[in-house]
Amino acid sequence: MESFINEVDFFKGNNPEEIAREYGTPLYVYNEDIIRDRMMRVAGVITAYPYRANYSCKTNTNLEILKIALSVGVNADAMSEGEMRMLQKAGFPSDRIFYVCNNVSADEMRYAIENNIPVSLDSLDQLRLFGEINRGGRCAVRINPGVGAGHHEKVVTAGKKTKFGIAEEDIDSIFDIAKEYDLKIIGINQHVGSLFMDPAPFLAAVDNLLRIAKKFENLEFIDFGGGYGIPYHKLDDEKEFDMSSFSKEFTKKLDEFVKEYGSAPMFKSEPGRYCVAEGGVILGRVHSIKQNSGVKYIGTDVGMNVLVRPSMYDSWHDIEIISDGKVVARDKDSMEKVTVCGNICESGDVLCKDRELPGVKDNDLVCVLDAGAYGYSMCSSYNTRLRPAEVMICSDGSVKLIRRRETFEDMFRLYE
Ligand code: LLP
Repeated sequence: MESFINEVDFFKGNNPEEIAREYGTPLYVYNEDIIRDRMMRVAGVITAYPYRANYSCKTNTNLEILKIALSVGVNADAMSEGEMRMLQKAGFPSDRIFYVCNNVSADEMRYAIENNIPVSLDSLDQLRLFGEINRGGRCAVRINPGVGAGHHEKVVTAGKKTKFGIAEEDIDSIFDIAKEYDLKIIGINQHVGSLFMDPAPFLAAVDNLLRIAKKFENLEFIDFGGGYGIPYHKLDDEKEFDMSSFSKEFTKKLDEFVKEYGSAPMFKSEPGRYCVAEGGVILGRVHSIKQNSGVKYIGTDVGMNVLVRPSMYDSWHDIEIISDGKVVARDKDSMEKVTVCGNICESGDVLCKDRELPGVKDNDLVCVLDAGAYGYSMCSSYNTRLRPAEVMICSDGSVKLIRRRETFEDMFRLYE
């Protein structure tokens, strides 16, 4: 693909240079149509049985994005009190939120219970704690299905090397604790990890979870977690995740289960990245270009405080260069190897290393693709830098500020 920005008309006819001047850089820019489209795709993965997709909002909790999820009809999962509160603020009713927590305090758990938000417990200890504060309550348990997957070992959340879930050999203890506290286990859930393009490990985990599910009576739901990948190498023509063949394979497994179990509980999944990654980019400004020991460094304001994925997981994000409001063509003759970095005081503050990009000039814009997921939500104020603003290119083509840039007053307020 020559240019994703041009191919999908990401800015819907608006000039990215003007947007960058008006709202400043670094700037997160989202495209409402793409986000709606991806959320509708995940909502339709299973059609043969009662099914709900939960948008995993740790990916991006901007209120406007949560409102899109709400309007498209997907539910949401929350990992913290903050995420529950954001979902409530966006208008999600309690029964459309699923609190999938890990190592939380009694107070945080109580927030979910008092707000009637269904809770999943991910250890025997947390199940006991839930029983102590909510004897006779209803809850789900997170099972470790023994199979993990993901783009980096730090995001594999099942299998033998992870803190998550209750192992299969501890299932009898779940029943013992449930009996002791008179708890009703209404659902089970899992999450194998984040970003698979080959669905095989996910489907193997589905097999395992469905086998384990038969040990539980009268389950109201089974939640298979998220992890559907997106093509981060789209400029090199990486293919999309094949949702339709995945959906067929997935349904076949559910068919077999339903026959044996005798009924179809509500099936759920928890995609995050797939819903929002491709619907977001970062616009950053080039402030300096220099050669150091034969390496050409493009110095921008997109530091690791704005997008941490490259420095945290060595993640690849395609980058397009925008000069005078237009995407610079990737002509063979103009391509050169450069290292694009941010303005943070760490050598690891690198967006990409030795990347072939078309000629970049001072004051050009870098447009970092696929930044809608785990972008802003993982921002920090490292080096005492302000968090960026976020704007939405709405379906009608208008540009809307959906979160203002942080100010120094915002920072100082915590000391008042
Ligand atoms: N459900 C649970 C319980 C999760 O822990 C996660 C992600 C998801 C669903 C959504 O997974 P997704 O569909 O987005 O892959 N910061 C990393 C990803 C961490 C994912 C953590 N859990 C990254 O930037 O790649």
